Amino acid sequence: MSVSLDKIVPFGRSLAEYRAMFNLTKADCNRPILDCGGGPASFNAELTALGKSVVSIDPIYQFSAAQIQQRFYACIEDIIAQVEATPDNWVWNFHRDPQDLKRHRIAVMEMFESDFEAGLAGDRYRPASLPYLAFDDDSFDLALCSHLLFLYSDLLSLEVHVQSVLELCRLAPEVRIFPLRTLTSEPSPHVEPVRSALASTGVESEIVTVGYELQKGGNQMLRFWC
Ligand SMILES: C[S@@+](CC[C@H](N)C(=O)[O-])C[C@H]1O[C@@H](n2cnc3c(N)ncnc32)[C@H](O)[C@@H]1O
Repeated sequence: MSVSLDKIVPFGRSLAEYRAMFNLTKADCNRPILDCGGGPASFNAELTALGKSVVSIDPIYQFSAAQIQQRFYACIEDIIAQVEATPDNWVWNFHRDPQDLKRHRIAVMEMFESDFEAGLAGDRYRPASLPYLAFDDDSFDLALCSHLLFLYSDLLSLEVHVQSVLELCRLAPEVRIFPLRTLTSEPSPHVEPVRSALASTGVESEIVTVGYELQKGGNQMLRFWC
C-alpha cells in the first residue's frame, strides 16, 4: 500500500457528526463498527472513550500523528478560504459559519492526535486501503464510510466503488455510506450503478435522508444490508 500524504486532505469529523450523518442510534453505537477511511476523525477516540467497539482503517495510519497533523495544518487555511469564497455551496446548521467549522475541525484533529498512539497499539487504527481489507468475513456488525466513496467519484472508478462495497458487505451485514455527492456537489454518477451491481448479488439498499447537511444537497446516505 503506497500513499503520498501530500495528496490527501486529512479532515476529520466528530462522533456527533457521525451520529447525524449516519442516523446512528444508541443501539447502533453498541455494535462492533468498522470505520472505513477514518482519517483524523475523532469518531474512534470518542466512541472508545464510551466503552464501545470500533476499528478504523485508513492508508494514512502508516504515518505518525505528527505527520498527519502537519498535513492537516498545511491544508486548513486554504480549505476554509475556499469555503468562504463559495457561500452558496454550504449549509450552516451544524456549524455556525466557516470559522466555527475550522474550530471544530481543529478540535477533532486534536482529539484524534491524542488517541492515535494508544489506538494503533490496541489495533483500533489500522493502516489499510479499500477495496480489499484483511479482516475475516463478518468481523463487524456495521461498516461506515464517510467522505470517501462517492465523494471522490472522479478519482475512484465505478469498479473500485463496486468492489469496495462488496468488500464492506463481506465484513458486516450492514453498510452505510455518506455523502452521495461529489467534491463539486454533483450527485455521484456511481450511486445507481453500484446499487444495481450489489442488487445482482442479493444485497439490498436504500437512500436515506439524514439531518446532517454541510455541503449543500449532501444530506443523504446509502444503506446496504444483506
Ligand atoms: C476526507 S477524509 C474523511 C475522514 C473521515 N471518514 C471523516 O469523515 O471525518 C477521507 C479519508 O479517506 C482516506 N482514503 C483514501 N483512499 C482510501 C482507500 N482506498 N481506502 C481507505 N481510505 C482511504 C484518506 O486517507 C482520508 O483520510
